[in-house]
Amino acid sequence: MERACYYFSVGLLLATSLLAVGTADIINDKSALVAFKNHIVLDPHSIVAKNWSISSSVCDWNGVTCDSGRHRVMALNISNMGFAGTIPPQLGNLSFLVSLDMSNNNFHGHLPEGMSHLRRLSFMALGNNNLTGEIPSWLGVLDRLQYLSLTGNNFFGDLPANICDNVPNLKELDLAWNQLSGQLLSGLSNCSGLKSLDLSYNQFNGYVPKAVGNLKMLEELDLGDNKLEGPIPNEIGNLLKLESLHLGWNSLSGSIPVGIFNMSPLRTLDLGHSHLSGVLPSNMCHGLHNLEEIDLGGNNFSGAIPASISNCLKWVNLSSNLLRGPLAPEMGELKNLTRLDLSNNQFSGKIPSTIWSLESLDHLSLANNSLQGSIPDNL
Ligand SMILES: *[C@@H]1O[C@H](CO)[C@@H](O)[C@H](O)[C@H]1NC(C)=O
Ligand SMILES: *[C@@H]1O[C@H](CO)[C@@H](O)[C@H](O)[C@H]1NC(C)=O
Ligand SMILES: *[C@@H]1O[C@H](CO)[C@@H](O)[C@H](O)[C@H]1NC(C)=O
Ligand SMILES: *[C@@H]1O[C@H](CO)[C@@H](O)[C@H](O)[C@H]1NC(C)=O
Ligand SMILES: *[C@@H]1O[C@H](CO)[C@@H](O)[C@H](O)[C@H]1NC(C)=O
Ligand SMILES: *[C@@H]1O[C@H](CO)[C@@H](O)[C@H](O)[C@H]1NC(C)=O
Ligand SMILES: *[C@@H]1O[C@H](CO)[C@@H](O)[C@H](O)[C@H]1NC(C)=O
Ligand SMILES: *[C@@H]1O[C@H](CO)[C@@H](O)[C@H](O)[C@H]1NC(C)=O
Ligand SMILES: *[C@@H]1O[C@H](CO)[C@@H](O)[C@H](O)[C@H]1NC(C)=O
Repeated sequence: MERACYYFSVGLLLATSLLAVGTADIINDKSALVAFKNHIVLDPHSIVAKNWSISSSVCDWNGVTCDSGRHRVMALNISNMGFAGTIPPQLGNLSFLVSLDMSNNNFHGHLPEGMSHLRRLSFMALGNNNLTGEIPSWLGVLDRLQYLSLTGNNFFGDLPANICDNVPNLKELDLAWNQLSGQLLSGLSNCSGLKSLDLSYNQFNGYVPKAVGNLKMLEELDLGDNKLEGPIPNEIGNLLKLESLHLGWNSLSGSIPVGIFNMSPLRTLDLGHSHLSGVLPSNMCHGLHNLEEIDLGGNNFSGAIPASISNCLKWVNLSSNLLRGPLAPEMGELKNLTRLDLSNNQFSGKIPSTIWSLESLDHLSLANNSLQGSIPDNL
């Protein structure tokens, strides 16, 4: 959904950049691409071998897009071509490149510093390769960057402290599925235009910085599957455009800041499998009008089931907590729930019989509680 918008703006940039093309310098671009070609060691579809012919113009090479005058290379898209190899510094000589998509191949080695010369780059997708090294701090000089994905590689170490200082246009940053570690620094707060930040499936530790509340444009925030600890900062409640919040599979503690329950655009709230505790507010689902999925399973939440659960939409997981008390008869009014997991708590009393007549519910788990009641034969 987001991406479509970048393709559109990349298209505009391709068009407007034409005006900037003065002297034809396709020779320069060709030598950069020939160096790149020479670093490709695996070419299962014979694209390099058969199509990237030295005798033809690079503008006719598969995956290469030039401006209409065929003066410069504007885009390189070699995603899913089965290539393996390293990225040579000469790639940085494609100085008119606006869009680079090398995702879903098997490139390895480091990102060469030469790439810091790609000053017109707006879209950079290197996800799902086998690249390694630290996230280079020179990324911060690519000041036209709107989209950056390095997901699914072997990048490690800390995030550069000033990663956001010079990338005012960055809208989407995806560094998920790497080996990144260290603390999330307040430097992230300078990425103030970000709509989507995904740092999940890494080894980040320490606290979630309060500065995350400055990322006011965020629609998606995923810090799940890391080693984060401490409380969820109240400042998260300032993110009034947030539609998707994933903080699950960390070691976060304390209670859920009440502000979270007033973020009405929120569709997904995943705080599962951490060390959160406290009582769930009884009006939990009153302010969340768009919620489709709420996962609070595998924490230490205690107290009664929130009365407002009948207002929750679609998918609720409260399993594996310390919740107790009866399941109120209002449970039979769960009009909009399709999946409900209340297993592994301390609920007691009778199962409200109305629960069996809920037509929308297609998955219900009440196992491992102290509930009484029988399951109707005609279920
Ligand atoms: C390479 O592939 C493109 C797109 O399929 C085609 O237009 C071009 O003629 C091919 N070039 C060569 C040298 O085969
Ligand atoms: C690159 O090409 C693939 C299809 O081969 C396409 O799905 C993807 O959107 C393209 N990337 C860009 C940035 O246009
Ligand atoms: C291309 O890049 C390399 C390495 O970054 C550099 O040494 C070389 O001078 C560049 N060539 C041209 C023609 O700009
Ligand atoms: C990725 O690179 C590592 C070394 O950095 C290597 O051990 C591993 O086999 C590579 N994986 C693939 C799929 O090539
Ligand atoms: C944000 O960037 C400005 C310069 O644009 C810099 O002065 C400031 O220290 C940065 N803030 C953080 C928290 O890194
Ligand atoms: C719940 O609290 C107990 C007692 O403090 C602790 O031993 C346990 O690890 C906690 N469980 C979770 C999932 O945080
Ligand atoms: C609910 O959360 C628990 C704990 O994280 C998990 O084991 C369980 O699979 C989840 N239930 C569903 C239906 O996904
Ligand atoms: C919830 O269910 C009621 C009754 O079935 C329905 O009228 C209402 O539109 C549903 N709300 C949403 C947000 O789906
Ligand atoms: C119920 O608890 C038992 C023992 O702890 C466990 O093996 C089983 O998986 C639990 N059932 C569910 C549905 O979680």
